[in-house]
Amino acid sequence: MAKLSLLLLLELLIFFTPSLSCPEYQKQALLNFKASLINSTTTTTSSSEGQRVLLFESWNSSSDCCNWERVNCSSSLGSRTVIALYLNDLVDQLPREHTVLTSNILTPLFHIGSLTHLNMSKNKIQGQLPSDGFANLTELIYLDLRSNDFFGSIPSQLFQLRYLQYLDMSSNNFHDIPKEIGNMTELRHLEFLDLSKNHLEGMFPQWLAEMEVAFIILSDNNLTSSLPPFLFNSINLNILSLSRNNFYGQLPSNIGNATSLMSLILNDNNFSGKIPDSITNLRFTILDLSNNKFSGNSLPDFSSNMLPQVIDLSSNELSGEISTNFSILTRVLSLGKNKFSGIMSTNLNNMRILECLDIHDNKISGELPDFICQISTLRILNLRNNSFQGSIHDCISNLTSLQILDLSSNHLVGKIPAKFGNFTGMIRTSNEPISDVPATLTPFSFQAKINDLIFNWKKSTQGLSWKNLMICSLLDLSMNQLSGEIPTTLGSLKALKVFNVSHNNLYGRIPASLGDLLNVESLDLSYNNLSSSIPKSLEKLQQLTILDVSNNKLAGRIPRGSQMDTMNDPNFFANNSGLCGMQIRVLCPEDFPPTKVPPKPPKVESKERWFSWEGVGIGYAISFIITVGVLYLAKYFVPATPPNYRRQQRRRRI
Ligand SMILES: *[C@@H]1O[C@H](CO)[C@@H](O)[C@H](O)[C@H]1NC(C)=O
Ligand SMILES: *[C@@H]1O[C@H](CO)[C@@H](O)[C@H](O)[C@H]1NC(C)=O
Ligand SMILES: *[C@@H]1O[C@H](CO)[C@@H](O)[C@H](O)[C@H]1NC(C)=O
Ligand SMILES: *[C@@H]1O[C@H](CO)[C@@H](O)[C@H](O)[C@H]1NC(C)=O
Ligand SMILES: *[C@@H]1O[C@H](CO)[C@@H](O)[C@H](O)[C@H]1NC(C)=O
Ligand SMILES: *[C@@H]1O[C@H](CO)[C@@H](O)[C@H](O)[C@H]1NC(C)=O
Ligand SMILES: *[C@@H]1O[C@H](CO)[C@@H](O)[C@H](O)[C@H]1NC(C)=O
Ligand SMILES: *[C@@H]1O[C@H](CO)[C@@H](O)[C@H](O)[C@H]1NC(C)=O
Ligand SMILES: *[C@@H]1O[C@H](CO)[C@@H](O)[C@H](O)[C@H]1NC(C)=O
Ligand SMILES: *[C@@H]1O[C@H](CO)[C@@H](O)[C@H](O)[C@H]1NC(C)=O
Ligand SMILES: *[C@@H]1O[C@H](CO)[C@@H](O)[C@H](O)[C@H]1NC(C)=O
Ligand SMILES: *[C@@H]1O[C@H](CO)[C@@H](O)[C@H](O)[C@H]1NC(C)=O
Repeated sequence: MAKLSLLLLLELLIFFTPSLSCPEYQKQALLNFKASLINSTTTTTSSSEGQRVLLFESWNSSSDCCNWERVNCSSSLGSRTVIALYLNDLVDQLPREHTVLTSNILTPLFHIGSLTHLNMSKNKIQGQLPSDGFANLTELIYLDLRSNDFFGSIPSQLFQLRYLQYLDMSSNNFHDIPKEIGNMTELRHLEFLDLSKNHLEGMFPQWLAEMEVAFIILSDNNLTSSLPPFLFNSINLNILSLSRNNFYGQLPSNIGNATSLMSLILNDNNFSGKIPDSITNLRFTILDLSNNKFSGNSLPDFSSNMLPQVIDLSSNELSGEISTNFSILTRVLSLGKNKFSGIMSTNLNNMRILECLDIHDNKISGELPDFICQISTLRILNLRNNSFQGSIHDCISNLTSLQILDLSSNHLVGKIPAKFGNFTGMIRTSNEPISDVPATLTPFSFQAKINDLIFNWKKSTQGLSWKNLMICSLLDLSMNQLSGEIPTTLGSLKALKVFNVSHNNLYGRIPASLGDLLNVESLDLSYNNLSSSIPKSLEKLQQLTILDVSNNKLAGRIPRGSQMDTMNDPNFFANNSGLCGMQIRVLCPEDFPPTKVPPKPPKVESKERWFSWEGVGIGYAISFIITVGVLYLAKYFVPATPPNYRRQQRRRRI
């Protein structure tokens, strides 16, 4: 019995073995590829030799090439031919400094006409792409040449590969797309075309507009033209990404004919005119028209789109009231940096999943709309630099998910609601990514990049990427006319990184509870009427890099210890009523060494003295500063302190 089955096995082996190995000419072509790969790396060190052998170890002439790494063969009985080559990321595994791959390396592969999948991505291959070679690879379905250094024209032969579905040539240095493909093209199955991140010049190719390609990604090039209306008669067009080119003109009015379009990403171009009304026929998930010159004083009505969506119309010239309706499934609504004015007459209260409302840098007036309080999903509310007036209603504190609240540069009056201390989004950092915007919006391998949010972060304007949003929390109420005291409750916002209430009319003490803002990196209380001393509790702030309390009525010793010792920019303490401390190199009265100080005027210890320093005669001020200078030189100053520092300080004092 055992003998019989062994015999059978043997027979089977004999029968199948010859037809189960790859054709000799294909093996030879692959061995030639390996040889030229090895030839491309200069053999200097023995370690590089070792790496190379490791990489293509299995590629030896005595074995079947269908068993080699990175090689797939067809599995049809009778004939086994090479159909897939995964030759991506070779450079990473070769000794980089010795390796320069040129496009000649592809030559042997053009003999393998049976290839359907070829992945040559991320190899930094230099040179022009050989044109006639690809004409041989008539069976190709997937071709991935992204992240190389190919330059010149994209060979028109590629567009005659009739089975090609997926063509990724992004991140190279290609200069032109062949213009005269016309009806020469045999491509009938192309679904995915990514030519982004090249140096392509010229117009949007007419022939491409006439094809039914589902993914067209041409972002980050130098293309200049208006968009051919024909493009939007495609019923397959799914993603159109043309960011960062020089496209111009109006969007074709038939844009709504492209009913499969789910991502329309046209940011950073020079498009102008009205946003066509037919855009509302689209059921998109991303509409990014930011950084163009779109104008018009009414927006299309987006309410019929029932897909979760991101709408970014920021940085355009849109005007009039924001009165249109948006879909209740909007996640991100960015209308910032336009010319919107009037009151917010749209009603967003039924928004079920809105996480980001950003309308900064417009001229919107009126009171803060109450409907905002009902968008309980909001994590980002940015109304910076508008003309909102009236007081901040308590109900804003119902938005417990808020992580970023920016109401700065408006005309708001009244108190900071004590209930702001209840923003749970600012109390504990969330590990949830902001929306799963990028995740849900990445069909296939397409990654939509949503514009950074722009905030004032530590005295400068900064873009905050969506990736970082989940760890970032910010409260900016600066540049209003808010009055009253800073509520003690704000101390509970432990996740805050930026706290800015500067340029208001706040008075009273700085609450000691601000010392509980354990994550705060920037604390700006400047330009208010805050009095008394800086609470000692601020010593606890280990993350603090900016503390600005200038232009208040503060007095007394600046707390010392850990980060507080590094808060030594005198501008951030200027114009107060007698602050002192090593940070600003001003000695506090109790620090005067009894012997060196001129006889103190009576009652120097009393608080009153602090306030009257400025009124003291010039002679006293100078001698005081000089004493301080000498003392500090000995005690605190590092030798490298610029000598003109004391002069500066004296000037300010006098
Ligand atoms: C290796 O490179 C040299 C010179 O660059 C060339 O003459 C030779 O034909 C190459 N050999 C292979 C196998 O590609
Ligand atoms: C060739 O590779 C196979 C494994 O794929 C290995 O068994 C064989 O020993 C190798 N032959 C030589 C000559 O390196
Ligand atoms: C190649 O083989 C791998 C592993 O067996 C498989 O996952 C992959 O789908 C194959 N590729 C093709 C194009 O058949
Ligand atoms: C090619 O390889 C890269 C890895 O470098 C991979 O991300 C990509 O999906 C592959 N392309 C195709 C078409 O399979
Ligand atoms: C195309 O394939 C044929 C047959 O394998 C071969 O003779 C020819 O050299 C190939 N063309 C190129 C440009 O490699
Ligand atoms: C394209 O095809 C049409 C007929 O289908 C023909 O009339 C026209 O001349 C062709 N154009 C080019 C550039 O070949
Ligand atoms: C785009 O074209 C302009 C003028 O033709 C040129 O100055 C610029 O460098 C180009 N940019 C890129 C990224 O190729
Ligand atoms: C495209 O839309 C326009 C109206 O904007 C319509 O008149 C035309 O028939 C549509 N074309 C196709 C092919 O659907
Ligand atoms: C944008 O278009 C306007 C006309 O609409 C033109 O004047 C301007 O030069 C263009 N800007 C760029 C950068 O192409
Ligand atoms: C918004 O929707 C309401 C009804 O829900 C409707 O009365 C109003 O006209 C719509 N506004 C716009 C600008 O379409
Ligand atoms: C805010 O929450 C309070 C309860 O804390 C509730 O009474 C009030 O109706 C809410 N306001 C709004 C506008 O949702
Ligand atoms: C809000 O904070 C107050 C104290 O300021 C507290 O009494 C109240 O329970 C908090 N409300 C919620 C909903 O957390």
